[in-house]
Amino acid sequence: MKPRGKPVFAGNWKMHKCPSQTRAFFASFFPLLPPADDRTVLFFPPAVSLATAAQCVEPRPDIRLGVQNVHWKASGAFTGEIAAGMAAEAGAEFALVGHSERRHLFGETNPQTADKVTAAMGAGLHPVLCVGETLQERRAGRAEATVEEQLRAVLPRIHAEHAGRLLIAYEPVWAIGTGETASPADAASMHAFIRAKLTRHFVERAETVPILYGGSVNAENAGELLAAREVDGVLVGGASLDPEEFARICAAGA
Ligand code: PGA
Repeated sequence: MKPRGKPVFAGNWKMHKCPSQTRAFFASFFPLLPPADDRTVLFFPPAVSLATAAQCVEPRPDIRLGVQNVHWKASGAFTGEIAAGMAAEAGAEFALVGHSERRHLFGETNPQTADKVTAAMGAGLHPVLCVGETLQERRAGRAEATVEEQLRAVLPRIHAEHAGRLLIAYEPVWAIGTGETASPADAASMHAFIRAKLTRHFVERAETVPILYGGSVNAENAGELLAAREVDGVLVGGASLDPEEFARICAAGA
């Protein structure tokens, strides 16, 4: 086991699984993954399925929930948006912030992402700040610079005392939903870069921030990615939709 402790297995369901499919998923998943306290298992269902998911996981305190996005304001005339406090009341403990689909399909900027992290923290949620470069940026040798900019927008807003509430997910955009993954060596190198930036801001408390890898993680590659240095967990999209596959991923870190 890595020094930072429990590996994190997070399933990002994106725009999949209505409430009835959420119920069916957990009914299949629970027998496949007996409770254990040596890992953290998280799901990010669509917001409309969050309350149903919260009911389902009530007998399983080892399984925790989050939302895929929050607005930066606590309330107001923002049709279609969800405030962090609302998500918390509906059962979320975590919030994805700055997922690449939010950034690239919905034009979310670094300053907005920073505001969302602040709002999530303010509502008592654990933000999972997603960072990662596009293929173009990687080819231009700008992978680290891109990730650094994404971190620089957010980290100065967080007091070191609260660092333990933050998680980072490194998700290279070119690896999301494409079947391509970063090699364990590439993931380890970017994770080490992120760790160094965290240490600059939070000093020794940087060690309390888990850094997850995401991008086409599946039951076949999860083990070697999790074995890479500084990879503290995985954020899984497509492969988290199938209870058997996701249970195998969780077992890969055992
Ligand atoms: P993927 O998605 O596992 O389907 O590549 C990961 C993510 O977007 O979080």
